[in-house]
Amino acid sequence: MPQLDLNFVRNQFPVFSTDLGQKIGFLDNAGGSYVTGAVIDRLTDFYTNYKVQPYGANPLSNKAGEAMDLGRHTIAALLNVPPDRVTLGASSTQCFNTLAQACAPLFQKGREVIVSEQDHESNIGGWERLCQQQGGTLKIWKANSETGELDVADLEKLLSPKTVLVAVTHSSNIIGTLNPINEIAQRVRQVNARLVVDGVSYAPHCWPNLDELDVDAYVFSTYKTYGTHQGVMVVREDFLDELTPQCHFFNVPYSAKRLDTAGPDHAAIAALAGIGDYFETLYHHHFGADKVPLHVKARAMATLMNQHEMKLCTYLLENLANLPVRIFGRPGPEQREANIALSSPKISSKALADGLVDYTVAAKNGHFYAYRLLRAMGVEDMNDGVLRISLSHYTTQDEVERCVAGLRALLTES
Ligand SMILES: Cc1ncc(COP(=O)(O)O)c(C=O)c1O
Repeated sequence: MPQLDLNFVRNQFPVFSTDLGQKIGFLDNAGGSYVTGAVIDRLTDFYTNYKVQPYGANPLSNKAGEAMDLGRHTIAALLNVPPDRVTLGASSTQCFNTLAQACAPLFQKGREVIVSEQDHESNIGGWERLCQQQGGTLKIWKANSETGELDVADLEKLLSPKTVLVAVTHSSNIIGTLNPINEIAQRVRQVNARLVVDGVSYAPHCWPNLDELDVDAYVFSTYKTYGTHQGVMVVREDFLDELTPQCHFFNVPYSAKRLDTAGPDHAAIAALAGIGDYFETLYHHHFGADKVPLHVKARAMATLMNQHEMKLCTYLLENLANLPVRIFGRPGPEQREANIALSSPKISSKALADGLVDYTVAAKNGHFYAYRLLRAMGVEDMNDGVLRISLSHYTTQDEVERCVAGLRALLTES
């Protein structure tokens, strides 16, 4: 297995040739990654050359439609699903909200939805509002107040014949723990309920393998996977058929449009093809010119990318273990992705984020919309929240060392 060629990777991101891009160690990747040049090229191409209403008879319009189709087809190929399974929304939050509205027919009074306390609010709020509208009951799958983790045995106690749906995150954007989705699915299937999974935090670190995940809907955001800001939602066909379409009535026959409330920017859709270009380029560089499907290339690259991230993550966790901080999440790299949240009893999370600027490190503090999780874990000042350090496959050892040096100075010399 080759090692990730970090120089080659960084050469694919125009930001690393700017002054600030070179100077700043960007460790706020969970908030949105840098954008790869291939995506920027496709965006620019669309805006420059054919930003017209697509799918018309003239050549400009043809090109626009073809570029948009390529964007959708590329995402489908990266996930190994048919293109008409892919709904593109403005964001993951919008996708979840639309899905929740579409689930109204599944509800009669007394039916139940289970959401996890570990989730980003994106995959909770819409389900809560749906329950309020339909007279359903929202049950909370509680997170452990120390570790923030979910226990499948707790879910089992909440499941009942009244359960319509369970919503859970693939991995936490705060504690970074990877959840056992298929084990959860097994329990959910026992009561014939649906499983909706938030892959936003997971996708940039591992790239989802939908062939292996037993889920009814899977959602992630492409601005975290080196692209434009969109939500991608893949919904199982038999689930989609049960839902109320959220599109114009004349679009109902087209399954890709059924949950499309009004698509994102056309150029941004076209630019999604750049994420495929990026994986192609990386794969070719690391593995050669094999003729394997795009999703296989993406997953092969995701393995190399993840190995690199986890090496840095391990180094970071080992160094944080010697500092006076509370780590939110597992102290080691097992069953974890490279999102590390921490807080100090002595210095605010904002002061840590501000202080890191002097070490040319960009990280953020806050609750990151996982408000319920942080509240459950005893965080009192929600605006201050935690400091989150989130790595990407383009992160360097030097950037992480600067972060460690900065935190050590801020925490021990203050
Ligand atoms: C885990 C998780 N889920 C959902 C979202 C919401 O994604 P979007 O900004 O596309 O609505 C985020 C955004 O940060 C997230 O981190």
